[in-house]
Amino acid sequence: MSAPKILATGRCLPERVVTNEELSRQVDTSDEWVFSRTGIHNRHFCTKESGLDLAVGAARQALERAGLGAEDVGVCLVATFSPDFASPSTACLLQKELGLKEDTVCFDLNAACAGFLYGMKTAHALLADAPRPHALVVGCEVISRVLDMTDRNTCVLFGDGAGAAVFRRDEEAVWHTVFGSRGDAESIMVEGPGPVRSTVHMDGKAVFRFAVEVVEKSIRQLLEAEGCGINDLDLVVCHQANARIIDFVAKKLGAREGLFYKNMDRYGNTSAASIPMALDELSQAGTLKPGMRVLTVGFGGGLTWAGALLKW
Ligand SMILES: CC(C)(COP(=O)(O)OP(=O)(O)OC[C@H]1O[C@@H](n2cnc3c(N)ncnc32)[C@H](O)[C@@H]1OP(=O)(O)O)[C@@H](O)C(=O)NCCC(=O)NCCS
Repeated sequence: MSAPKILATGRCLPERVVTNEELSRQVDTSDEWVFSRTGIHNRHFCTKESGLDLAVGAARQALERAGLGAEDVGVCLVATFSPDFASPSTACLLQKELGLKEDTVCFDLNAACAGFLYGMKTAHALLADAPRPHALVVGCEVISRVLDMTDRNTCVLFGDGAGAAVFRRDEEAVWHTVFGSRGDAESIMVEGPGPVRSTVHMDGKAVFRFAVEVVEKSIRQLLEAEGCGINDLDLVVCHQANARIIDFVAKKLGAREGLFYKNMDRYGNTSAASIPMALDELSQAGTLKPGMRVLTVGFGGGLTWAGALLKW
């Protein structure tokens, strides 16, 4: 059994910050409503930046911090449901921008908000016989381009951003993972590409019920595989969709105060970007230290979910 050893992370956010107060001038909402239901105050929206710009920013940071160059990368995956183009993939455009070698495995994958962990698992498997031993996995979303800014049910929830991780296979290390999917097109749906402008539709209550169920279940499965309790972990980094989902699960599991990280107050739900962005924040703040046991769980459209317990 081998596991990914994350060498470094990076993140990139668009410049423009959009507050709940600003949104309350466009739809009938308020900072009080949004924050009390979701834990979100602000998010970033792209104005002049493309998804590729964000992916390049996050990837360059991660590579530089890992002390690696373009010639060291054997696998390059981008998890996204809101790419700049249906084709070429953001991963291929990123390959060109970074100058990755021609035999690098490059493609996008879409597992919505669970995408980064699906990307880690896929890249880790591909590294087994990749031309070079390092993988670059980027979660990158420009969700503002698929939001209906007249729908208060959805437009207040999401944000844009990118997070990246560079890792290699560690043949000694062990990680535990869980993956699942439900073939559900009703709870969350993003139309397009097509003649109609693509928008997000969501049954918020159904998604809330789904999320608390699979996050708790995934964490229990990972703890059982590791043979430890929730408070033996050093950190839990869930997909940052909603503070109430995280608080609900943390309470149900009897987690100690502060074990579950939250940063959606500043970024909103950035889908596939949220977990690597959070890992990068924690790593840059010095909170994440080598050897720590970190559990991550993603969940979202599909309906998909994924969890991983790994050693930092
Ligand atoms: C979306 C969510 C915050 C809505 O909270 P809720 O308590 O379920 O709210 P409801 O959808 O029942 O709506 C309650 C009322 O608030 C209103 N409302 C919805 N959005 C609003 C907003 N931004 N501002 C003010 N009122 C709003 C609704 O119109 C409804 O009004 P009504 O009772 O007059 O019809 C909540 O369901 C949720 O967090 N779901 C999970 C979503 C998620 O995380 N998705 C991404 C997963 S990757």
